[in-house]
Amino acid sequence: MKKICLLLLALSFNLASAGLLESPSGKKYMTTEIVGQGSFGKVTLAREVGPNTAKWAVKSSHAGDDYRTAAHIESNFLRVFNSMSLPVVHLEDSFEQSGQVHLVLERLESDLTKYQKTDGRSNDRSRIFPLQEVRQVVRNVLLVLQGMHFKDIIHTDIKPENIMVQSTAPFRVKVIDFGNAIHKDNSESGEYIQTRWYRAPEILLRRNYTPAIDIWSLGCVLYELATGQVLFRGANSIEQLTLIQKMLLPNDLYLVHLLKEFQIMIDKHPEAPPEEYIDPFLSSKLYSKFMGPMETTAFETDVLTSAELTDDAVPFADLLIQMLQIDPDQRITAEDALRHPFLRMPVPPASID
Ligand SMILES: Nc1ncnc2c1ncn2[C@@H]1O[C@H](COP(=O)(O)OP(=O)(O)O)[C@@H](O)[C@H]1O
Ligand SMILES: [Mg+2]
Repeated sequence: MKKICLLLLALSFNLASAGLLESPSGKKYMTTEIVGQGSFGKVTLAREVGPNTAKWAVKSSHAGDDYRTAAHIESNFLRVFNSMSLPVVHLEDSFEQSGQVHLVLERLESDLTKYQKTDGRSNDRSRIFPLQEVRQVVRNVLLVLQGMHFKDIIHTDIKPENIMVQSTAPFRVKVIDFGNAIHKDNSESGEYIQTRWYRAPEILLRRNYTPAIDIWSLGCVLYELATGQVLFRGANSIEQLTLIQKMLLPNDLYLVHLLKEFQIMIDKHPEAPPEEYIDPFLSSKLYSKFMGPMETTAFETDVLTSAELTDDAVPFADLLIQMLQIDPDQRITAEDALRHPFLRMPVPPASID
């Protein structure tokens, strides 16, 4: 009897390490291949054990109170947005096992970064999305942002890795990863959030922020999809600001000087201030310069020469400029962007050849 118990114990231990998860709902999931790994934990592909062999993806947090709390917050957000029928990943089940929180999610095809690389080009220019597909991305992400922003919730991490392809014919995407979402009332000025290349100027300059930061990120994502190149590929926060200045602001000598001052200060103290360090005094001077008039002609020409040139390229460039307004109060809202001519353009009939 004792031997059988030990055998069963060993067997269940093996199954647990092989990735058997048991939900209190009675459902069992066998996890297999890891498809995503981050500071929160990991995402693995899974199959339901039993007669229903449905395929899922399971996002599992690390063990530990902070990770568990964050995972529960993400699952609450997902439940709210699922109930609003927004195009976000469907949450099927969530439970705790061995001190970790597991979110059982609808399995999606590929995130936009992986999808863009499947073209297999060797240079750093990835697949260029036809504007028809870009329109499907912008429509669905805007629907999610409109719903979230209406509830005063900010996603804070809109980027290609957090937008996933649901189907390719027709081309449809869903938004994932609500692990960093935050209610506006809990936002604190000076917080250093978002992923650098998609980080809004007000975050780089450590100012108050609003849901408008998500629109900035989406503008950066759309440029990347339509041209195959990252819009602002900064290696640190000063370079990020410098790239934004070069692309969107007039060549103001004082502004260039202020950015150089920052760079010198950071170079002098590589170990002291973190990469994200911004001196508050210099940052307020920079902020007033950044909030000045924009110079978008070069940017518009750049979009029109790099994107696929179709009838909708001009309205697309116009929408991008409205999303990439440096002043968050001037930036288009999700609601208004959904009414922009680029989104209202009819789908052309399928080509005959
Ligand atoms: N539902 C899903 N189906 C398939 N792959 C997924 C799914 N959710 C996430 N992934 C993959 O795992 C990666 C990390 O998941 P994400 O929720 O963004 O976690 P993190 O907080 O680490 O960014 C995604 O970029 C994507 O490639
Ligand atoms: Mg993510």
